[in-house]
Amino acid sequence: MLIRQMTLDEKIGQLNQYTSDRNATGKITADGDKANQVRQGKVGSMLNVVGAEETRKLQELALQSRLKIPLIFGLDVIHGFRTTFPIPLGETATWDLALMEKSAHVAATEAAAYGIHWTFAPMVDVARDPRWGRVMEGAGEDTYLGSLVAKARVKGFQGNGLGNIDAVMACAKHFAAYGAAVGGRDYNSVDMSLRQLNETYLPPFKAAAEANVATFMNSFNDINGIPATANKYIQRDLLKGQWNFKGFVVSDWGSIGEMIAHGYAKNSYEAAMRAIIAGSDMDMESRCYRDNLKQLVVDKKVDISIIDDAVKRILIKKFELGLFEDPFRFCDVEREKQQTNNVANRELAREIGKKSIVLLKNENSIDGKPLLPLSKRTKKVALIGPLFKATTANHGFWSVAFPDDTARIVSQYQGIKNQLERNSEILYSKGCNMNDDDKSGFEEALATAKSADVVILSLGEAANMSGEAKSRSSLQLPGVQEELMKEIYKTGKPIVLLLNAGRPLIFNWAADHIPAILYTWWLGTEAGNSIADVVFGNYNPAGKLPISFPRTEGQIPIYYNHYSTGRPAKDENDKNYVSAYIDLQNSPRYPFGYGLSYTKFNISNLKLSSNELNIDKGKLDVTVNIENTGNYDGEEVVQLYVRDLFGCVVRPVKELKGFQKVFLKKGENKSLTFNIKSDDLKFYNDQIEYINEAGDYEILIGNSSDTSLKANFKLTM
Ligand code: NOJ
Repeated sequence: MLIRQMTLDEKIGQLNQYTSDRNATGKITADGDKANQVRQGKVGSMLNVVGAEETRKLQELALQSRLKIPLIFGLDVIHGFRTTFPIPLGETATWDLALMEKSAHVAATEAAAYGIHWTFAPMVDVARDPRWGRVMEGAGEDTYLGSLVAKARVKGFQGNGLGNIDAVMACAKHFAAYGAAVGGRDYNSVDMSLRQLNETYLPPFKAAAEANVATFMNSFNDINGIPATANKYIQRDLLKGQWNFKGFVVSDWGSIGEMIAHGYAKNSYEAAMRAIIAGSDMDMESRCYRDNLKQLVVDKKVDISIIDDAVKRILIKKFELGLFEDPFRFCDVEREKQQTNNVANRELAREIGKKSIVLLKNENSIDGKPLLPLSKRTKKVALIGPLFKATTANHGFWSVAFPDDTARIVSQYQGIKNQLERNSEILYSKGCNMNDDDKSGFEEALATAKSADVVILSLGEAANMSGEAKSRSSLQLPGVQEELMKEIYKTGKPIVLLLNAGRPLIFNWAADHIPAILYTWWLGTEAGNSIADVVFGNYNPAGKLPISFPRTEGQIPIYYNHYSTGRPAKDENDKNYVSAYIDLQNSPRYPFGYGLSYTKFNISNLKLSSNELNIDKGKLDVTVNIENTGNYDGEEVVQLYVRDLFGCVVRPVKELKGFQKVFLKKGENKSLTFNIKSDDLKFYNDQIEYINEAGDYEILIGNSSDTSLKANFKLTM
């Protein structure tokens, strides 16, 4: 056994992770002798080293160490690598788990060809506060959907298992509850009941663990006063204990050392002690383990068995990756070339891109028909806005930058141009910048709009306004974009609005006035083609919001599955000593699960196979009918929610428990069956026991969380 041959220094080396000089998301500690430390076996893993050749060079150094233990190379491969897919929040709007698995697998295949063994993804933080910039990186606000997406993404990254050259280790992050930062301010505290933690925030992590995720990353925040990095309950008791997780836990960037600023550790000695005891196995970039673990063992503050356990977990993964057999198996220049511009991968990005787009509004244009889809024969189309000719912005945050990005990304301008008929004309005007007060381009933009038959406006927040450390207190369109839109509206031309963002924005004026709105997130390499596919109706949009869109920042946090209060408002106008705002409705601008289509669907005829479900042996079949009553073929996501009417603890007003995405030709009719088991109805009581409770339940069905059909049943003992 390798570990028996290791000195304490060599063991500590395995727990130490350094970054290269690129992609830093925090302070890089300057110690110029990194290469030397790798050679001495003092480094177990590196992050941000990219490329077959670059990784090979460092791996060669690692193999000069006494025990020749190879390095693991980690990177934030969050939504693609050479081929960039939609940001994870956008991709979740597809509600298509198989596609999400595929895109993760493509990302893994491409990254693995560039020497990467490990992605710091998926981010599985439930996020109910769109001020938080990192909502872009996860699956949105819902625990059930988030858990399924977590599984799909882990399966995609890890493919047929570690050891295959198209599989990388996945990393469920950020453990835990990072998405619940107070005020939506990044890195801020999290304070919540253990019941809420278990019920809402932990299940996607548990799902990732069940899908065999290789690693976890802890989070910057404290949870109820204990930094996650030193949180023994979370990491050692729950994750490694109750969930029996066999992989390893990496700290977040510098999070061990940051416990000093948290006021939770006096110095790096104490920080290292608390983190390792709590179960953080690898130290990303803080140097606390490197500098203190040896002394902690000598001082008998940390038992060697704790260090051994961490080292074993890491070595096992190196073994499973096949690195002991061939440390260079991921450093293959030939494979790297093949994956540099893979056409099939780009096609997948285009498909996922179009399926991520959410149609928020599609009202009448001048001829009385819905404005979208536009005809490819439209004579003069004006493209106005700061994003039409942008390239890298389409990647959004957390994409891996390459020198040829600009040439490879399909701009929105190019995408539209590709599909308009030859006799049509594109007029273009930038109008304004993303985020300043310069209106000098308005005049030209207005003239452009006036001479067109239809205007497409592409607006949004800048790509670097969402992501890590990108919290916003205002979610309005930045700069003078809204003013530009209002001016163009005055021309009376029909307007299609594309909204590009990494989070829900607030755009009430547009929602009230602009006839057609597509939410396009950040769609990646093929953005322009995906957008054009939807604008011209090659594809009938079917995306559904994975997060509620608030009316104002004052409503945040707003999420569909809130608890019942003792004074619920009876409708939007009820302000009479009920739980409501005196100056605003309670409902969001667009609810979770919402999204339109070019066609119309009618969901009807909800039937239950019984009005009773037995806890031990029962199962309930829920059937509904869906009919495509409009003029286009299309897909719809039929959503099933459950409400527990009375409980030993207060229960949410509804909870998603199932969905089916179905394709129907126009005029087609289908019957759908959902299966409800008693397990689907379990929840945490105030003793944090996961239980079923007999009683009355409601099934609610619709094409968004604003459901239209209802039926009751009893759960019996
Ligand atoms: C900090 C981020 O919180 C984390 O998600 C990321 O993986 C690391 N930096 C590495 O870049």
